[in-house]
Amino acid sequence: MIKPLRKAVLPVGGLGTRFLPATKAMPKEMLPVVDKPLIQYAIDEARAAGIEEFCLVTARGKDNLIDYFDAAPELEKTLQDRGKTSTLAALEASAISAGSMVAVRQNMPLGLGHAIWCARSFIGNDPFAILLPDDIVKSDRSCIGQLADIYHQTGGNVVAVNEVPQHLTNQYGILETGKDDGKLVEVKGLVEKPAPADAPSNLSIIGRYVLTADVLEPLSQLKTGVGGEVQLTDAMAQLIGKQPFHGLRYEGTRFDCGSKVGFLEAQIAMSIERSDLGDDVRAFLKKYI
Ligand code: G1P
Repeated sequence: MIKPLRKAVLPVGGLGTRFLPATKAMPKEMLPVVDKPLIQYAIDEARAAGIEEFCLVTARGKDNLIDYFDAAPELEKTLQDRGKTSTLAALEASAISAGSMVAVRQNMPLGLGHAIWCARSFIGNDPFAILLPDDIVKSDRSCIGQLADIYHQTGGNVVAVNEVPQHLTNQYGILETGKDDGKLVEVKGLVEKPAPADAPSNLSIIGRYVLTADVLEPLSQLKTGVGGEVQLTDAMAQLIGKQPFHGLRYEGTRFDCGSKVGFLEAQIAMSIERSDLGDDVRAFLKKYI
């Protein structure tokens, strides 16, 4: 029987050095795109896929993230007293129900694989999603929901993929591909950040995964890979051939909010379509271009 997907792990331990000094005293996942912090986009996407339990893998200096998901009774009361119902509704939409979020500390910056391994007690034996909050995916159907559909069909592992220019393969986990129907592609191998000349394809993993708990076993060896970090990609590669493993060319647009340009593009893309902002955004863009 295929176990339903209910859990998500969100690694939020990164230093956010690319956004210093903004991130000196604030986690990068709290940077807003329009009026929602990055972390909220990831949580909303997961909820839209029916995921109800969350684990934040945090680090020192990241406690704001936990406070963000707590109730804010004084603020809520003030808004209520002032009749600010739509603001109150936005606040409520961001709330997490009691007991459905846990946080674990990644006590050393040993990489994404290590961060996931730190969530092992939360994961237990269950399938789980991973959302890297640096990536926002704008789509009609939640990107992690699209992966969840494939997981529920195959019972195996699925990663969201897209083509990148060949010279950028050294920034991503890259697939060695098998059978490919244009949307779903069988994964024959995985390499973390290969040099363009060595890359088996230009199909890269974005920050969305649905994995079985079996990935914890290779992770537990804490073997370091590229960059001296424990790489999730290397642990996932150990599952190939033992259980289904696919890449899904998801429907939607990914914004790499870990980069300044991606972050700025996300601001435009997410505001231009809003009824309260779109016209103004279009008008001021004309002024600058
Ligand atoms: C991580 C993963 C990489 C993946 C990328 C997606 O890299 O290790 O395989 O392609 O996220 O954003 P990072 O961006 O943390 O260097």
